[in-house]
Amino acid sequence: MLNQKLVEIIKSTVPLLEKHGEAITTRFYQQMFSNHPELLNIFNHANQKQGRQQRALANTVYAAAQYIDNLSEILPVVKQIAHKHRSLGIKPEHYPIVGKYLLLAIKDVLGEAASDEVINAWAQAYNVIADAFISVEADMYDQAANQKGGWDGFRKFVVARKVEESEVITSFYLIPKDQEEIADFQAGQYISVKLEVEGEKYTHIRQYSLSDAPGKDYYRISVKREAGTANPDGIISNYLHDCVKEGDCLKISAPAGDFILNTNNDKPLVLLSGGVGLTPMLSMLKTAAAVQPERNVTFIHAAANSKVHALRGEVEELAKRGNVTSYVFYDSPMDEDRINNRFDVAGYVTRDWLQENLDTNEADFYFCGPVPFMKAINRYLKDLGVEDERIHFEFFGPKGSLED
Ligand SMILES: Cc1cc2nc3c(=O)[nH]c(=O)nc-3n(C[C@H](O)[C@H](O)[C@H](O)COP(=O)(O)OP(=O)(O)OC[C@H]3O[C@@H](n4cnc5c(N)ncnc54)[C@H](O)[C@@H]3O)c2cc1C
Ligand code: HEM
Repeated sequence: MLNQKLVEIIKSTVPLLEKHGEAITTRFYQQMFSNHPELLNIFNHANQKQGRQQRALANTVYAAAQYIDNLSEILPVVKQIAHKHRSLGIKPEHYPIVGKYLLLAIKDVLGEAASDEVINAWAQAYNVIADAFISVEADMYDQAANQKGGWDGFRKFVVARKVEESEVITSFYLIPKDQEEIADFQAGQYISVKLEVEGEKYTHIRQYSLSDAPGKDYYRISVKREAGTANPDGIISNYLHDCVKEGDCLKISAPAGDFILNTNNDKPLVLLSGGVGLTPMLSMLKTAAAVQPERNVTFIHAAANSKVHALRGEVEELAKRGNVTSYVFYDSPMDEDRINNRFDVAGYVTRDWLQENLDTNEADFYFCGPVPFMKAINRYLKDLGVEDERIHFEFFGPKGSLED
């Protein structure tokens, strides 16, 4: 426990740290990676370059510091991050490294403004926050390894089937190399894939949502090829598309994540996806159809056109059931899409459309897609009076803000 004086110092200096947030986090990562290059095997380099991860980690430390005397208030946030950490293999011994370089960066950037008293208070605060993460993660490691079919760390899976779902999305059906059981998962969860790519100095780890229903003897991921336009091509998605063949092995960690379908609720369910964001939503659709056959489900998918529209057959099959309704939005339909009636609405999902077509007073909403898509959906739902408790979403990257 920290004493009252330390708590006051920490809370009163949070704004100062936030003000210098960018400078502190940039310095922190530079120094940490130059002294511990092995950590570049775990961190996502593209997120680093875009600054997404820097902000996520440091902002969470500051946010946690505001609740330093009552960390249980932010337990849901800790758990969400801990899922990601567990799936990546972050261990207790990593925490002192992050703590050391974060404090050094605070000292360097604040200079005179950071007295010994302030630095000492932050060192203690960091330890309290780190202990909270380590303890939540210990339970998760235990659960991942000791559940039925579970395992510790990364396990080898064979690509049993590789299926092209659209011009940009390909599915990989993964079965364990040891032919033993696999852990079950909850619809919406993801796995981490660890790859050594020829010519790359470091290993790369990426998350992929499980796109099929739970309860099978395989896991399925469906990966979009991230072709760079102004930026470099995505490393792992292109490697998976171009180089990984049926029969090859992938190392994956046990399913993780707190974006999960609540099947105890029988209120109408609305699943919205943009592009490859359909992967967790499809798993949820299949799950709801299997375990809550009476539940009213609306599946809304937005894509550019039929060329990039993946897995439509699986949705159409379920939409033959009376209580599942599917809507397809194309923002750039082709002539043949119009001729063949391949979509329901031309353009983007709008607030008015949601208002006219959905039960916004009662339904539970889950969505995933590109950040602009998620921001728009979030704004429309809020506008239509949907409370936070009924809004659930997943980021395909470090969690950010959906507020503009
Ligand atoms: C929980 C979760 C679930 C996910 N589920 C899925 C899923 O089901 N299917 C799926 O396809 N993806 C999913 N993702 C995304 C996936 O993890 C990868 O991020 C994605 O495949 C891209 O990885 P990559 O290695 O190909 O690209 P990276 O090499 O990581 O690059 C990512 C992007 O950054 C850009 N970039 C690279 N370098 C720079 C630079 N210097 N400056 C600016 N931009 C740069 C690239 O052009 C690319 O668009 C999920 C992510 C999370 C967190
Ligand atoms: C108290 C200390 C820490 C805090 C507050 C913290 C916070 C965060 C946050 C907010 C994220 C983004 C989660 C998401 O939404 O996806 C994250 C991801 C991550 N964290 Fe931590 N973290 C801490 C410690 C560590 C340590 C010790 C390591 C390992 C050295 C680590 C490695 C990572 C990695 C590799 C990611 C994913 C990065 C990416 O994909 O870009 N973290 N962490």
